[in-house]
Amino acid sequence: MSAVLASLREADRVAELCLLGTGGVGKAVLNRLAELQDAGVARHIALVAVANSRCGQRGSTLQPRQARDPVALLSRATSMEWVDDLFSVPGSARRIVIDATASDAVAARHAHWLAQGIDVVTANKLGQGGSLLRWQAIRAAQSSGRARYGDAATVGAGLPLLRTLRALTAGGDRITSISGVLSGSLAWLFDRYDGSQPFSALVREARDLGYTEPDPRDDLSGADVCRKLLILARAAGIALSESEIKVTPLFDAALALATHTELDTALSRLDAPLRLRLDAAKSRNVSLRVVARWREGTATVGLETLAFDDELAHAAGTDNRVVIHSTRYQQRPLGIQGPGAGADITAAALLDDVLSITAA
Ligand SMILES: NC(=O)c1ccc[n+]([C@@H]2O[C@H](COP(=O)([O-])OP(=O)(O)OC[C@H]3O[C@@H](n4cnc5c(N)ncnc54)[C@H](OP(=O)(O)O)[C@@H]3O)[C@@H](O)[C@H]2O)c1
Repeated sequence: MSAVLASLREADRVAELCLLGTGGVGKAVLNRLAELQDAGVARHIALVAVANSRCGQRGSTLQPRQARDPVALLSRATSMEWVDDLFSVPGSARRIVIDATASDAVAARHAHWLAQGIDVVTANKLGQGGSLLRWQAIRAAQSSGRARYGDAATVGAGLPLLRTLRALTAGGDRITSISGVLSGSLAWLFDRYDGSQPFSALVREARDLGYTEPDPRDDLSGADVCRKLLILARAAGIALSESEIKVTPLFDAALALATHTELDTALSRLDAPLRLRLDAAKSRNVSLRVVARWREGTATVGLETLAFDDELAHAAGTDNRVVIHSTRYQQRPLGIQGPGAGADITAAALLDDVLSITAA
């Protein structure tokens, strides 16, 4: 045990941390937590539990680097019940759950944990990007107690998007439109797609690099971008629901219905139609991007052709770019841009939220 952890007496703890999810993001959280503890930055935060959907590990102070692959089968039916059991008794330390899963069942528990006084820090968009009722329950649970909800990792992997929208709204500004390239993986795909290789080959490459969602169809369907648009609009106080967003997927029904084992081959169904779109775009000297747009009365997600001088056309690599119009920013909009995908920056955003909660 490192000197830092050995000296972490229970009485000195500011926070106890439970991590759900040991995939790309979860493992990056553990690596970064270890680095922060080595640097003395997170010395008051004790990792007390790590779990995926099947296995978990609990302890008074776990060493992050050794908790990457928990092997003990969960002692409760679900990881959520396991957390409830772990954090059932409030102590002097803050109790924080990091949700690094893409699980709807875990997201459904966010409001319950907040109501129990347990802070929730999440990369999972199905909390605030889920149903209107779930978002309202999370808001109500936050405002009725002292538990905090850290959501910076859900959109833009920690870019200052949500906090900017909240600060503008709190300052009396009224947001009149939000548009953006909100998916780092889709931005990367269309930035790279020049016809020199099939689109499906790029999708497989993006999946192997960890840029796409666990199932790349969540990106290609527009579902992931739709959730991000919901989260952005709701951060601006707009009670947008999913049924109000017109989403145009990039693929057909056959790819939608493909099983996980058929998926790799079925991805080739993307190639011909997207090649046609690319050739048409090239002939008009415009670029292709999946864009999300909200303004009062209309909300859309889909593949658009953008002129090269369009403010959304120039996000490179995995960059997200968001353009906000408001009563304050009427003539010239506010633009926020930066890398918006990747396990390491997502993990950093999660732990920034944890540190901010423990500093409060
Ligand atoms: N990668 C990025 O760039 C990025 C950026 C922003 C946000 N995110 C979000 O971060 C989340 C995680 O992404 P990822 O790339 O790490 O996914 P991933 O590699 O597929 O990992 C998901 C993890 O969640 C676990 N899990 C699933 N259901 C669970 C449950 N009920 N209880 C506990 N653990 C459960 C899985 O465990 P099993 O193996 O047992 O199923 C797995 O360890 C997603 O919501 C994603 O949208 C990712």
